Amino acid sequence: MSRPLKVGLVGTGRIANRHMAPYLQHPDRVQLTAVCDVVEPAARDYAKRAGVDDVYLDLDDMLRRADIDAVDICTRHDLHAPQAIAAAEAGKHVLVEKAMANSVQECRDMIGASDRAGVTLMVAQHLRYSRHAAAAKRFIDGGGLGEIEAVRHQSTSGGNMPDDTGHWMRDAKYAGGGMLMVTVVHHLDLLRYFVGNVKRVTAICRTLQPYRLNGAEDEVTAILEFENGAIGNVFTKGNARSPEPAYYLVYGNKGTLASTPPEPTRKMAITQFGRHRVSLNTGEVLDVHNEDDLKKILQPEFEPLPADPADQHSDDYFVNEVLHFEECCRTGREPISSGRDNIETIKLIMGIYESSRTGKSVDLDTL
Ligand SMILES: NC(=O)c1ccc[n+]([C@@H]2O[C@H](COP(=O)([O-])OP(=O)(O)OC[C@H]3O[C@@H](n4cnc5c(N)ncnc54)[C@H](O)[C@@H]3O)[C@@H](O)[C@H]2O)c1
Repeated sequence: MSRPLKVGLVGTGRIANRHMAPYLQHPDRVQLTAVCDVVEPAARDYAKRAGVDDVYLDLDDMLRRADIDAVDICTRHDLHAPQAIAAAEAGKHVLVEKAMANSVQECRDMIGASDRAGVTLMVAQHLRYSRHAAAAKRFIDGGGLGEIEAVRHQSTSGGNMPDDTGHWMRDAKYAGGGMLMVTVVHHLDLLRYFVGNVKRVTAICRTLQPYRLNGAEDEVTAILEFENGAIGNVFTKGNARSPEPAYYLVYGNKGTLASTPPEPTRKMAITQFGRHRVSLNTGEVLDVHNEDDLKKILQPEFEPLPADPADQHSDDYFVNEVLHFEECCRTGREPISSGRDNIETIKLIMGIYESSRTGKSVDLDTL
């Protein structure tokens, strides 16, 4: 067996904790060799918990190490492009958290730098790396839903959220936008994975909460037109209550795939997505004679879509994601969520912003 991929991780905040498991569980494949954060106590605390001796306060210093093969970037969105480009230019493979970057041009620059250096560039879209996502992808690609005709996504962030003015995730200057860039990006990316690329969008975005800064939107309605002819609808609203915090649906001419509601746990709700239910059209024409007939029409049965344990190593998406990255670095295979793929997710979000700004539909190939 070849030696493990040696990784330096930058940004030891919230999501870096979820990236730690693969390094601790699979030292034969990925070895966390160094960590970097501008806040020294955060970096030292993380390094201690991960069993890493080498701590850096500056990424360039960490990149000078010849024995690091790859960099795992877990910092703010505005830092993704400069840090990914610096890492690629230092000859390191790059795993970068979502959202890939704050503009389409930044994504192009990241892809260009990694191509020139001949290194792997992968975006950590963790929802793609569950056994359940693999099962849904196989089901859809195998024609289980028939021709995909429409998709729908809705998310709300819950009522009475704390006023967290000043957090970078609520400030478009750092996050590149609002709810679309911070949370909805997961669902839009998953829908792209299942259905394909979007070619045109028409949208309205608004900012209602005073603690959302520099135009970070908290209300969006968008119409999507996919390249394969499907249409879509995206609605998101901050500080709002709804029976389910988020869901998505994929409608085909043979049936419908629906996400399952996440369990309410103390973990981030977004990490819970990825399980699905399916309801297939039976073709049966129902006359309504009684309550049972009515129920069959109004509340059709949705069966869980079973996951195949053979599809992924683990129940933990983050473990699968990092192991997929290692495999791609080792073999040269294009990651499922490569930079070349994920620029399309950023184009979709930037297209929604552009449409809202101009009041016109936007063709994504013009971005
Ligand atoms: N996949 C998911 O479900 C998920 C969930 C949360 C966050 N994220 C993503 O992870 C990334 C980080 O988010 P977070 O919530 O962990 O943020 P965070 O603010 O908790 O952590 C970021 C860390 O980066 C450090 N940092 C800032 N500037 C730096 C620099 N120049 N060099 C080195 N370190 C620097 C900060 O000190 C902090 O420790 C974002 O892209 C975010 O969207 C993904």
